[in-house]
Amino acid sequence: MKIQLWREILGPYELAVNELVVKFNHIIDEYKEAGEYSPIELVTGRLKTISSILEKAQKKGIDLEHFQEKIEDIAGIRIICQFVEDIYKVVDIIKRRSDMRIKSEKDYINNMKESGYRSYHIIVYYNVETMKGTKEIQVEIQIRTLAMNFWATIEHSLQYKYNKNMPAHIRQRLSSAAEAILILDQEMSAVRDEIMDAQNSFNIKANTVADILTNIQNLYRVANKQEVINIQDEFFRIYQNGDKDELEKFSMHLDKIAERYGAQSLK
Ligand code: GTP
Ligand code: MG
Repeated sequence: MKIQLWREILGPYELAVNELVVKFNHIIDEYKEAGEYSPIELVTGRLKTISSILEKAQKKGIDLEHFQEKIEDIAGIRIICQFVEDIYKVVDIIKRRSDMRIKSEKDYINNMKESGYRSYHIIVYYNVETMKGTKEIQVEIQIRTLAMNFWATIEHSLQYKYNKNMPAHIRQRLSSAAEAILILDQEMSAVRDEIMDAQNSFNIKANTVADILTNIQNLYRVANKQEVINIQDEFFRIYQNGDKDELEKFSMHLDKIAERYGAQSLK
């Protein structure tokens, strides 16, 4: 067997993980900028270590010549959502993208694993550019709720601790915990609309405040200082008042003033 140059082999996988974390985080930013609720709450990525690649290859009887095809999770992305419904939105988003091609998917949300594990898994093909040209690699994307992630993280540490020989009573506890997680997610879904509304108005308010402050800062450079100070006082008054509509009206009014000075905020 030829010598495996691990660093060289893993480089493109690391690049894919980094690129995809940036891309999924950008989706969150786009939703926030638009003042909309983001179906993605949080994104993480990881590269499988050489030792766990070797371990997996050995366990599954994979010839090291072929590990890049056979081991699908060398590059791993985890997408955490607030609600179960969001998971399917994210799956749709992934399916519509032109920069990844789906190899396979597993719905462990509707088909819970015997362990109690739930998540939606997608294996995609993703291209990275290297010195040697384009390389198509596989990436495992796991999509789950915050609650599912909590369970999976705990269960994973226990699996690790007991090295696959988990005592029956702990298995049983984990199984009940998985049931509780299922109910928790269902309860959260029942109040989803209300939570989404609250978060939307929070984002809209944050965007409005940011716009106002940018306008004030820009105006400070070009307009009469006393006028800008008055504007700032007015902003504080409205802000403390807490009326969202008044804040938005003030922001629009400020846009007009800034326009007059040719100092519109660069959003
Ligand atoms: P692997 O050999 O682990 O890749 O399993 P597989 O090829 O049958 O794929 P599967 O989709 O079942 O699992 C892929 C990944 O999902 C694993 O590497 C884990 O990260 C996660 N996973 C699957 N089952 C469990 C489980 O019971 N508990 C936890 N904590 N994670 C799991
Ligand atoms: Mg797998």
